[in-house]
Amino acid sequence: MCGISGIAGFKNIGIPLLDSIRHLEYRGYDSCGIAILGSHGIEVRKNIGSVDEVNERERLSEPDGKLGIAHTRWATHGGVTKENTHPHLSCKGDFALVHNGIISNYQELKKELTREGHKFHSETDTEVIVHLVEKYFKSSKDSVRQAHDAVEKAFIKAIKRLEGTYAVAMVTIYEKDKIFCAKKESPLVIGIGGDTNYIGSDFNAFIDYTKNAVVLDDDEYAVVSKDRYFIKNTANGETVRKKITEIHWDSDMAKKGGYPHYMLKEIYEQPQCVINALQVDKLLIKKISDMIIESKKTYLIGVGTTYYVSLIGEYQFSSVAGIFTPAISSDEFKNLAHIDKNTLVIALSQSGETYDTLNALKYAKNKGAKTAAIVNVMGSSIARLADYTILQGSGPEICVISTKAALSQMIILLMAAIEIAVRNKKLTVKNKTEIERHISHLPEIIQRVLNEKSGFIHTIAQKYSHINNWLYLGRGKYYPIALESSLKMKEVAYVHAEGMPAGFLKHGTIALIDENLYSIMFMPPKSDEDLYRLSSGSAEEIKARKGFIIGFHFGDKRESEKLFNEEIVLPKVPDIIAPFLELVVAQLFAYFTAVALKRNIDKPRSLAKSVTVA
Ligand code: G6P
Repeated sequence: MCGISGIAGFKNIGIPLLDSIRHLEYRGYDSCGIAILGSHGIEVRKNIGSVDEVNERERLSEPDGKLGIAHTRWATHGGVTKENTHPHLSCKGDFALVHNGIISNYQELKKELTREGHKFHSETDTEVIVHLVEKYFKSSKDSVRQAHDAVEKAFIKAIKRLEGTYAVAMVTIYEKDKIFCAKKESPLVIGIGGDTNYIGSDFNAFIDYTKNAVVLDDDEYAVVSKDRYFIKNTANGETVRKKITEIHWDSDMAKKGGYPHYMLKEIYEQPQCVINALQVDKLLIKKISDMIIESKKTYLIGVGTTYYVSLIGEYQFSSVAGIFTPAISSDEFKNLAHIDKNTLVIALSQSGETYDTLNALKYAKNKGAKTAAIVNVMGSSIARLADYTILQGSGPEICVISTKAALSQMIILLMAAIEIAVRNKKLTVKNKTEIERHISHLPEIIQRVLNEKSGFIHTIAQKYSHINNWLYLGRGKYYPIALESSLKMKEVAYVHAEGMPAGFLKHGTIALIDENLYSIMFMPPKSDEDLYRLSSGSAEEIKARKGFIIGFHFGDKRESEKLFNEEIVLPKVPDIIAPFLELVVAQLFAYFTAVALKRNIDKPRSLAKSVTVA
């Protein structure tokens, strides 16, 4: 939702602080700001716009100081205005604070503080926190105020008044070498750098400076100075000792590496991501398969892209392993799921922070279900909450729109389906080896498609970039691929695309079809005879009504010579990997359409990488 960072160092931290919010911009990017503690007190610079735009106007890195906090915002409470941009200051400007999350009782707190004379400058829920700290600090007796932990005490008193979710970081003129931070349900990590320490919403905040990090858990707070830090439990004040995690991501891995956009870079990283997914420890795949076999029922959950990954999983478990594992969109989970101790809930999330999924997982856990997760971000909330987590190892995905992380999850679910199929005697060990051999060729085939087809996909995307409405159609496992592909189009190009089972078309939507309606048909290979015949039939229905069709297919001869108006022909591949290739084509199609329409590719309007609100 929002990105938080902070640095406690020994020299001017303006430049690294600015750098760190550049790396966090994918978490929110409608406004940003910094607060640096210098010799004359706290200097806040902030405004609306992207980090680069704001920096151009406000010169964010200019203030001199060794300690500071910064924030990139994705508005929830209060519009996108300079006043609502973080950091927020206390009345006297002696405390500055940034926050990610939602304070649900902020209105009553605001009333209380206003009555007591505090002046508010924004419409945010965040501002109450800094005034609360100010209130408790001021109301403490003089003698207490001199004590070395007076600010800490006021900070904790304020934190304890908060309801809702938060990751908070604060600096003050009364403790010139300390950053105070606390966490509940929104992520916060500390980077340990020797003579400089960092805080961040995730590792990207400080990955250029240190690979050692400590992950804060809910209801913990930390006080961080340049060469020291401690973590305590918010409720009882007891010191918490934590293990230092070594981050395996490389800072170069998080940069664009010559590509014009992260989205394109990440699409091109997919061959490697599939290799990484295939190299996930076999014991982990076996363990998750055991959990599925031992449970009476298994739900797959996710939202947005990860809901569609869950749907692909549902098809894979059904067709390969012969078991039904319903996919449920996490936001609807409570309305649909029936949970008991024999239920397994598997959460899919690239960020590991999405509120809807986290909340559904907590609900399932509370009701006694076993839980597992497939997540890309180590140390994320979902990764830590689930009883059992597979880290998919796709590397940092910076573009807000998920591509490589989603494909990797699909591969991991497929491997689990194959493992279960062998145990359920749906597949012989020999068949399994054969299928695994097919899958092992996927990285090189994706690479071939990227090398040989992207120029043509670019041309086609440009040619049809004026089309405002698309139908994306597929049958069987090509149906969730159509859904996920249509989501890519909506997210990055802001073009309406409706994904639908091709067989469903005739039950109503077909009334829309004339020469002005454009469709994409996700064809299976001819070897999948039934699906192929039925998908061709759906295309015929569109053709008969003069609808325009782009066919994604595998070069199979068709009865009807001119079934498609345009076609993107893919290399012949075994059925098991065919849908993934069409997904890659659709990702490129959405990307190039967005380029033609001059969209904000890596940070589309209104979207955020991890949506941490309900
Ligand atoms: C947000 C993003 C979507 C993403 C969804 C799930 O809504 O804008 O693109 O698919 O979150 O994210 P997750 O991190 O849980 O996979």
